[in-house]
Amino acid sequence: MDKYIINGGNKLYGGVKIQTAKNSVLPILAAAVLAGDKVRILNAPHITDVANMVRILGCLGCRSVYEGEDIIIDSTCADCFEIPRELAHELRSSVFLLGPLIARFKRARIAYPGGCDIGLRPVDLHLSGLKRLGVSIRESNGYIYCECEKLCGNEIMLDCPSVGATENIMLAAVLAEGDTVIKNAAREPEIEDLQKFLNSIGAKVRGAGSGTIAVSGVKKLGGGEFQPMADRIEAGTFLIAAAMCGGEIEAQGISSEFISSLLHKLRENGCKIYSKNDKIILKRLGGLVSVKSIETQPYPGFPTDLQAQMTALCCICRGQSIITENLFETRFKYVPELRKMGADITVAGRNAFVRGTEKFNGATVVACDLRGGAALVLAALAAEGRSEVFDISHTDRGYGMFEYKLRSLGADIVRAAV
Ligand code: UD1
Repeated sequence: MDKYIINGGNKLYGGVKIQTAKNSVLPILAAAVLAGDKVRILNAPHITDVANMVRILGCLGCRSVYEGEDIIIDSTCADCFEIPRELAHELRSSVFLLGPLIARFKRARIAYPGGCDIGLRPVDLHLSGLKRLGVSIRESNGYIYCECEKLCGNEIMLDCPSVGATENIMLAAVLAEGDTVIKNAAREPEIEDLQKFLNSIGAKVRGAGSGTIAVSGVKKLGGGEFQPMADRIEAGTFLIAAAMCGGEIEAQGISSEFISSLLHKLRENGCKIYSKNDKIILKRLGGLVSVKSIETQPYPGFPTDLQAQMTALCCICRGQSIITENLFETRFKYVPELRKMGADITVAGRNAFVRGTEKFNGATVVACDLRGGAALVLAALAAEGRSEVFDISHTDRGYGMFEYKLRSLGADIVRAAV
């Protein structure tokens, strides 16, 4: 595993082009299995989650080619409906293939998915939704076995608005017989993006972005070309980095509407933020003021995927903050590492109590998940002195060209082999 060596204290200046959204591309890659044809995904991000998903598609019999920044997936010859343990463990999003595999082959056999260790992360809502479409499901020895004679549309009420369950059910329902209605659906913008993609290859989906999604099953889908949306979490991470380090940066290719909950907090912290068309400019001149509380919520609330980075920021604000994590049970695992850098944080259940200190000091720390790892990188960039961040394969899962982009903004960060 590589590590980052970071000499902190540099202010960040300049423009940064935001990558295509990981959480949009992953379900769209899964949806490519439904196409039975060629699908071109434009400007795919250079992240290991995408590379692993492409490997899984290869095992299912899909052919993938990289052309410049694009990935072309040809699922014409897909002939396998099984995802073995070694691959499923690589990423959580392997579970998105349940819906497409059942829709295409009427069968699926998938090992329980891996991914970031940030909580229990059950898949019960995915499975109960698929059952409502007529799928019989058996779980045994770490595998989920699904089969059906045919998929039939139905009304599905989700107990909570799970992003993955909403997407999985959409992916199965597009080829089901009749109409499906998903109630209490997640409203994340990536779900709207999935709807756009599915409709572009012949599906009939409407309502994504609201709490009710309606899918009219069609007999067949086809190929196409699609540009997924920009990565609001990567954009948020760079903006928080600039807020922590000082300076002025421009996040390019992202609309402010997708991260308004973050921008609202950063303004309270004392940052000046301007947005125009698809650019967000953040300027930090003086010291940072703490925000009283931040609570993670489903979209449009404050995203759990920016919780760790924002907690790192709160550590160097004047005053105290309470951060509440409502989505995942163990998403404060990075806190002991931040403490090594001088953070004053107490975690009690879902809450982290942060008492702001002047600054971080450089230290040797270990990333334990994707966003927690990003928080450690940001803390090191803002710290006085030298830091080493180990196990950066976690950040490689979601941040393409991370150190190049940070260096272009003026950060002193290099990757080194361990
Ligand atoms: C997706 C995102 C992830 C983000 C999360 C919440 C992708 C690839 N990943 O993950 O980056 O952090 O949304 O915005 O898009 N739950 C159940 N049963 C289920 C499914 C979920 O109880 O069957 C619970 C989870 O434990 C969690 C909550 O629902 O407490 C939200 O999880 P969910 O929205 O499903 O997250 P993911 O789709 O895994």
